[in-house]
Amino acid sequence: MGTSHIANLPKELGRIASIPRTQLFSGTTVIESMPNLTTHCGGAQLLVKRDDCTQLAFGGNKVRQLEFYFGAARAQNADTVLITSAVQSNFVRMAAAAARKLGMQCHIQQEERVTTDDPSYRNSGNAFLDKLLGATMHSYPHGEDESGADQQLAAIAAELEAAGRRPFIIPLGPGHPPLGALGYVVAAVELLSQIEEGELSIDEIFVGSGSGATHAGLLFGLRALGSDISVRGVCVRRDAARQRVRIQDICAGIAKLLGVNSNVTDEDISLIDDFLAPGYGIAGDATLKAIVLGARTEGLLFDPVYTGKALAAFIQQASTANKHSTFLFLHTGGTPALFGYQESIERALTFKAE
Ligand SMILES: Cc1ncc(COP(=O)(O)O)c(C=O)c1O
Repeated sequence: MGTSHIANLPKELGRIASIPRTQLFSGTTVIESMPNLTTHCGGAQLLVKRDDCTQLAFGGNKVRQLEFYFGAARAQNADTVLITSAVQSNFVRMAAAAARKLGMQCHIQQEERVTTDDPSYRNSGNAFLDKLLGATMHSYPHGEDESGADQQLAAIAAELEAAGRRPFIIPLGPGHPPLGALGYVVAAVELLSQIEEGELSIDEIFVGSGSGATHAGLLFGLRALGSDISVRGVCVRRDAARQRVRIQDICAGIAKLLGVNSNVTDEDISLIDDFLAPGYGIAGDATLKAIVLGARTEGLLFDPVYTGKALAAFIQQASTANKHSTFLFLHTGGTPALFGYQESIERALTFKAE
């Protein structure tokens, strides 16, 4: 797998083809219909784009983002990647897998974002996979201190450099070029060609909005290419007011990277934060019910931190929507976290069916 540049991207995306990218999966993810969930909701026609199947180590949206981070890392001749996130982060698990695939080392810093005494949270799911992938583990005692987490990562990188390694940091906080979001600018090209080929008509797309890279990248790409499909970001990390600022910042950062103007307006940024409570990394009852419903209507697996919350919002909105409208759920993965949260999800299995 070389560091490649992408050929044949539309000129509206400016310099994107000259930005280094390391291909980590073979391309298009499928769009499937969800007939049973459609019947259950009794509203919009429901589709799902399977970005949970992006091949690398259980897959997920972060594979697309990592293609640009690893492109940059390899362009700088790095041999070690450093990344920070929650204990059950999907991003760090996939970064560790990508590093291994490319013959690199990975340092993972686990932040204390979630207060829980569930032993599976700390030892199973993604946390177990990080160990299996042989990442070097570090910890950071806070969960709401992005600049502190980035600073500690920089200190670890400095030590590695002094020991002769060539580290590359995937930063957490805002204020860095949003390389990861470019993965979803490319995904917008893919989606629009699927819509054209399949003669699909999609009114709204639902996506979990955490760092905001997926949401902002997709929205930026769609608007740059002249599509007005609505993109609804479901907040999983912070409330809608704070997330709006993130999405605006990322869109501005993408425009700068690509050397084009952003076509994203304030009205384009649509956020739902009704399913964020009780907070990041903790699933409320609506989320748990959505996970069970998704599994039992469509055989699809959604996670408690990201896609379960997004699915709860999707179900709520789809249920009251017009039968002639079509909603697409961008399934961003997160499957291994089911095992890190097994106890709380098992509790949901006792809920009465509605
Ligand atoms: C499974 C899953 N879905 C959605 C998201 C949110 O994506 P983003 O951080 O690009 O907003 C994440 C982030 O870690 C994730 O792991």
